[in-house]
Amino acid sequence: MSNKVSVYCIAILIIATKTVKASMRNDPCHFERKCSCLYTRETVTANCSAKGIQHIPTIPTTVTNISFYNNLIYSVDKEAFKMNYNLIYLDLSYNFIGTLYPSSFQGLSKLETLVMSNNPINHTALSIYVLKPLVSLLHLTLKRNFDQPFLLHVAPLVSLQTLKIDAVSNGNEPFGVGYEKLYFLQELDLSGLTGYCILKAITQNTFKYMPYIERLDLSKCQINTISIGSFTILVHLKYLDLSDNRCLKFRGLANVTRELPSTSIEILRINKMHQTFDLNTIMTKCQVEPLRYTNLTEMQLAGNRLQIIESGALQYLPKTLKKISIADNEFSFGEYIKDVSDVTVEEVNASYMGLSHYLMDPDEICEHRQPGYSPCNESTDFYREFKIKRNIEDLHRQNAFLSLFGFVPIPMKLRKFHFRECKLRYYIPEMNFENNIVEFIDISFNAFYDWQGPITNLRYLTFLDISNNFCSKVSTEFFEYGTNLTTLLIQNNLLGFVLPKDINGKILAKVTKLKVLNLADNRIPSLPKAIFNSQTEIRILNLSGNMFENLIFKIDHMTKLSYLDLSDNRLSTLASSFTKQLDILSKNVPNLTVNLLGNPIKCTCESIQLIQWIASTNVHVLDMIKQNCQSHQINLNSSKLIYDILKKKCSSYTTTIVTVVSWLVIFGIVIIAGIAYRYRWKLRYAYYIVKGKHHGQIKPFRTDDDFVFDAFISYADDDGPFVYTKFLKHLEEDRNIRCCIHKRDFLAGNDIATNITSAIHNSRKTVIIMSQHFLESDWCLFEFNMAKMESIYARSKENIIMLVFLEQMSSKDLPLNILELVQSKSYIEYPNDEYGDVVFWDKLKEALSV
Ligand SMILES: *[C@@H]1O[C@H](CO)[C@@H](O)[C@H](O)[C@H]1NC(C)=O
Ligand SMILES: *[C@@H]1O[C@H](CO)[C@@H](O)[C@H](O)[C@H]1NC(C)=O
Ligand SMILES: *[C@@H]1O[C@H](CO)[C@@H](O)[C@H](O)[C@H]1NC(C)=O
Ligand SMILES: *[C@@H]1O[C@H](CO)[C@@H](O)[C@H](O)[C@H]1NC(C)=O
Ligand SMILES: *[C@@H]1O[C@H](CO)[C@@H](O)[C@H](O)[C@H]1NC(C)=O
Ligand SMILES: *[C@@H]1O[C@H](CO)[C@@H](O)[C@H](O)[C@H]1NC(C)=O
Ligand SMILES: *[C@@H]1O[C@H](CO)[C@@H](O)[C@H](O)[C@H]1NC(C)=O
Ligand SMILES: *[C@@H]1O[C@H](CO)[C@@H](O)[C@H](O)[C@H]1NC(C)=O
Ligand SMILES: *[C@@H]1O[C@H](CO)[C@@H](O)[C@H](O)[C@H]1NC(C)=O
Ligand SMILES: *[C@@H]1O[C@H](CO)[C@@H](O)[C@H](O)[C@H]1NC(C)=O
Ligand SMILES: *[C@@H]1O[C@H](CO)[C@@H](O)[C@H](O)[C@H]1NC(C)=O
Repeated sequence: MSNKVSVYCIAILIIATKTVKASMRNDPCHFERKCSCLYTRETVTANCSAKGIQHIPTIPTTVTNISFYNNLIYSVDKEAFKMNYNLIYLDLSYNFIGTLYPSSFQGLSKLETLVMSNNPINHTALSIYVLKPLVSLLHLTLKRNFDQPFLLHVAPLVSLQTLKIDAVSNGNEPFGVGYEKLYFLQELDLSGLTGYCILKAITQNTFKYMPYIERLDLSKCQINTISIGSFTILVHLKYLDLSDNRCLKFRGLANVTRELPSTSIEILRINKMHQTFDLNTIMTKCQVEPLRYTNLTEMQLAGNRLQIIESGALQYLPKTLKKISIADNEFSFGEYIKDVSDVTVEEVNASYMGLSHYLMDPDEICEHRQPGYSPCNESTDFYREFKIKRNIEDLHRQNAFLSLFGFVPIPMKLRKFHFRECKLRYYIPEMNFENNIVEFIDISFNAFYDWQGPITNLRYLTFLDISNNFCSKVSTEFFEYGTNLTTLLIQNNLLGFVLPKDINGKILAKVTKLKVLNLADNRIPSLPKAIFNSQTEIRILNLSGNMFENLIFKIDHMTKLSYLDLSDNRLSTLASSFTKQLDILSKNVPNLTVNLLGNPIKCTCESIQLIQWIASTNVHVLDMIKQNCQSHQINLNSSKLIYDILKKKCSSYTTTIVTVVSWLVIFGIVIIAGIAYRYRWKLRYAYYIVKGKHHGQIKPFRTDDDFVFDAFISYADDDGPFVYTKFLKHLEEDRNIRCCIHKRDFLAGNDIATNITSAIHNSRKTVIIMSQHFLESDWCLFEFNMAKMESIYARSKENIIMLVFLEQMSSKDLPLNILELVQSKSYIEYPNDEYGDVVFWDKLKEALSV
């Protein structure tokens, strides 16, 4: 029962959230179709940004927030908002508004925020009553409107808290008595980075009507001097930004620091107080000293070409200081280093050292006049000393880093240390830090190319970023004391040169608490099985952008793994041993994600195992298979379907392959057999000739007339009597023709075929005793064919065969190749009568001795 109820509740909840979501949708506004409106129960929020609107439409009373950001509006008409007493937010920035009438904002009595930056408002025509209706205004932004000296009549804005405005003064004070009534004004943003700001000189009069300010942004205001007493009145001031006033310099700062104790300063930003190519600077005790009476928590000193701090100056930093940025300076080593450990900061930003040339950022033109009074006299001994020492110190800069390692002073409360992109090229030697509680170190984008270590005593370190350092060497001791590390970012190095050799996983053996390990972009071709053996706590393992073709390392002990990034490798499949491990892990982690994007996994039968795994596993796999398969006309959106289709395709594919291959084999055999049959005689001939040569029956070389016999007599055994009684008698005895007959002349012990071939080869002619018996004998036909081969291949087609017909034979009895010879007339018929015989033998002798 209770189950049912909860199901109902969930259902109702889902429906409810759905309806809320539906009403949260942005619809075209009723009053102006170009705009999109968000209707909630009480309010309407309209977004008309970048719609090419030229005139402000009539806006219904219900609208509370509306933005006309980035349109083509030229003026705000009289009484344009007269019905909009519910409007609390109005954005008119980035338009072309030049004219405002006294009644332009009439009716906006509840307006809290007005943003009008980037409009070319014609201030000569601006009525002093324009802002009068805005009695509830809290935030006013009017930047990049007035690039000339101009006094805005803000007096009616009695509740104003935030004012962001241009400040261009040519000697006269931009903030007049009208500001006196703004008791709630807390933030004044005059920054030249977002608007027009030219305030060459700040005096006691500049802010005298706004003593309630807590945040003051004077960055990039081209300030040259700040007189003593300018800020004394701002007792609530918590935040002061003087950055990017490049003519003020540390000299001009001395007037400021003297006054800060009378304020409530917490954050002081003095970045880039010097020109990009100024001489290097120093910070003196005199400049810093007053700060010790403040409760400063954060100080930014970046980009000041700061090279040296006067010894002892650091001791004046207040004990409340938690954060300091000394980024983008040019520190060299001096005595002040020994003061470092007294500083109380928790976070130091020392990034971008030695990079202070922002060439895109032109220098500011400073007024050339006699440097005014500064409470810190520049001709003190320390200054002179510094100028002399500087050259010598430059010489020693290279070695200074090395000497630093022997003695590594760290602010005692330091937790976070940023040392990114400092152009430092060095190996990391053994380092021993003193007592410290450092938790976070970022030394990425340097060139620490060889991590030797060990680095001892960083016991609280949990985050280490040494990425982008061209490192190709890591000793097995380097991470030995990194026991407490939970995040290790070492991507974009060259660890592919070391990690594959670390068979026993020694390098990471001690880093047992690791939760995030980034090894991306390290050119790793493979990792040994045991490499991550100690990492049982890991959550995110990033191996993206390497060269893996195969994964063999063990992961099934990482029971908390939730994300394995294997993207952009060369994996075309995953070994089943690996997918099995993932399956085991997915039982522990409900949402284990494996990223396989950017790997060459194709939608083909070769990937079918992987696709099958993806289709069946609980692991959340990111892959491109659906897209890849789409282009293969498998238009499906689930891996399961792809697998099913592919399986069918591939099984028929396998059958096809088997069939095609078998046919190819059969075809090949037939062809070869055919060729062998076609050339059977030639092949046999060649074989036996070679064999004969091997046995010495045939001389390797034969001169023209150097035959052992004149004639090889080929006959059937049944015709033997004729050969012995008549043939040998008439030819050999009477006519002196050397004959070879197998019964008599063949070498015993050699096989017949070799004997035959050799005999034919060693005889000038071959005489065939043709009869019905001859045609019936296989050996006789063999002899005939061998003789034919001999004539073709050894005697350049000269006819060496002599046919002797013992009996009359009809041409239909004769095989085709014998008939061919008959037709070429190289035959003699045995006459078998006395007189004819003589002629026959003579003729035969004649034929045989040519
Ligand atoms: C208003 O709409 C633009 C696009 O037309 C969008 O970029 C912008 O984020 C929207 N602003 C708000 C506050 O929703
Ligand atoms: C409307 O403007 C007010 C006042 O600036 C702001 O607090 C609120 O978040 C805005 N509402 C929406 C939906 O943007
Ligand atoms: C600004 O207003 C003055 C007075 O109405 C007028 O003379 C001048 O031409 C206007 N300037 C511009 C740029 O419209
Ligand atoms: C410091 O203050 C004095 C006295 O107001 C002034 O004369 C001098 O110009 C200021 N110095 C700088 C560098 O701004
Ligand atoms: C700094 O804080 C301490 C303790 O909160 C307070 O007594 C002191 O007045 C503060 N100093 C300044 C300059 O605000
Ligand atoms: C360190 O300072 C540089 C230069 O001002 C800045 O760009 C960077 O964001 C700072 N880093 C941190 C972590 O604050
Ligand atoms: C600066 O020091 C020199 C010599 O040490 C002295 O003559 C001069 O008066 C000092 N100037 C100021 C403004 O204190
Ligand atoms: C790890 O950090 C804890 C404190 O978080 C510390 O007590 C412990 O000594 C550290 N372990 C090692 C081996 O340094
Ligand atoms: C892995 O590292 C690459 C390259 O540094 C990065 O783009 C990617 O977002 C990282 N993946 C995860 C899950 O952090
Ligand atoms: C699982 O993780 C993926 C990516 O990390 C995410 O998109 C998805 O919403 C998560 N699913 C659940 C149920 O948490
Ligand atoms: C696949 O797409 C169809 C419509 O394109 C959709 O109805 C179906 O739910 C989708 N299936 C999956 C598993 O995403």
